[in-house]
Amino acid sequence: MKNDIEKIFGFYASGSSIFSRKDFLQSSYVPDELPHREDLVKQLAQILAPSLRLERPSNVFIYGKSGTGKTAVTLYVGSMLQKTAQEKNIPVKFMYVNTGLKKVADTEYRLYAHLCRMMGEFIPDTGVPTHSVFEKLVHTLENNPSIYLLVLDEVDVLVEKSPEALYTLSRINSELKNSQVSIVGITNDFNVVNNLDSRTKSSLSEEEIIFPPYDADQIYEILKQRDTAFSPGVLDDSVIMLCAASSAKEHGDARRALELLRISAELAERETSLKVMKKHVKDAISKMYADNISGFVNTLPHHQKLVLHALVSLDKPLSYTREVYDKYVEISTQTGLKELTMRRVLDILGDFESAGIVRTNVISRGRYGRTKIVELTTADNIKDQIESLLVSL
Ligand SMILES: Nc1ncnc2c1ncn2[C@@H]1O[C@H](COP(=O)(O)OP(=O)(O)OP(=O)(O)O)[C@@H](O)[C@H]1O
Ligand SMILES: [Mg+2]
Repeated sequence: MKNDIEKIFGFYASGSSIFSRKDFLQSSYVPDELPHREDLVKQLAQILAPSLRLERPSNVFIYGKSGTGKTAVTLYVGSMLQKTAQEKNIPVKFMYVNTGLKKVADTEYRLYAHLCRMMGEFIPDTGVPTHSVFEKLVHTLENNPSIYLLVLDEVDVLVEKSPEALYTLSRINSELKNSQVSIVGITNDFNVVNNLDSRTKSSLSEEEIIFPPYDADQIYEILKQRDTAFSPGVLDDSVIMLCAASSAKEHGDARRALELLRISAELAERETSLKVMKKHVKDAISKMYADNISGFVNTLPHHQKLVLHALVSLDKPLSYTREVYDKYVEISTQTGLKELTMRRVLDILGDFESAGIVRTNVISRGRYGRTKIVELTTADNIKDQIESLLVSL
């Protein structure tokens, strides 16, 4: 015991570290180069460039799955454009807003207030009617003549929480004479646009850019580019390849790949290892998977938890949906809740399947017809974890 502790403290005190610039692995860090996004960087730059001639660029909608570089590319193009505008004294303002953040855009009021504050106006948290905050926004834009490139990242959340805000912003130019606003909407939810009325939809998607998922080779290069985050000799190619291959399987998500690499290295450091090994990557994959599951389970509504509980307590590799339902009814009754219908429970199982927690299959039972079977996709240790997460029910 004493030896172990001495080893840990000795390792840290010696100044040895797996990381040399851990900040390079942070999600907020935008590297100088974005491998495999050169074309998309160019495409967005071409769409936004007319602003430098004081022409209003088309509104753009950017789609792509999580971790495909949408935010990174947009911030990259925005900062380059802002730099040129400043150097040449051209009135172009790039404004980035993450509307997925509660405190920023939970309500129409918050969004307009946030935009006003970004332009240096004071708006109290409450006490002003929403339309007055909007008028203040229009007024501020007018008093600071410019082309505004307004990025609404994670715009799906805004559409869900306050669709009126997007509707109003998409028409804001009709209230402006001295300034013009172009909107760049970013989303990883392809259905978001379908939830908009057709005028807003066509106005916002004058241009569209689609970000495809990365493949394993591309993720490898993205990770390789960040190896400056590590001390020399810490990271072998085979480890980077393993992280890349694992993340490519998971929808080509570069964020997950970077996280996997960082967690693997943290596990190595915790073991006072001077190198990141494949074993650390494998442990990191299990850790991320377990964290995901607990995040998923913890946010489930009550009945969904009960359905999962039913599935786990059947304790069988494969269960008929009827069995799951009967068990669920039994548990609901015990907890004094009125049960949902079979139809609803099937929907819930469908949601679990989309989340990757269960797999379902339709099998034929001869003259008894066809029936559906369900299995938990999760490994045994995860099953224990789900059980422990559900004990509080
Ligand atoms: N081509 C690339 N080169 C280097 N790093 C990249 C590249 N693409 C993405 N990344 C990095 O991967 C992470 C995820 O990228 P980003 O945040 O841009 O994804 P996103 O498409 O906006 O995902 P989400 O829809 O979840 O917001 C970031 O840390 C980003 O810097
Ligand atoms: Mg993003």
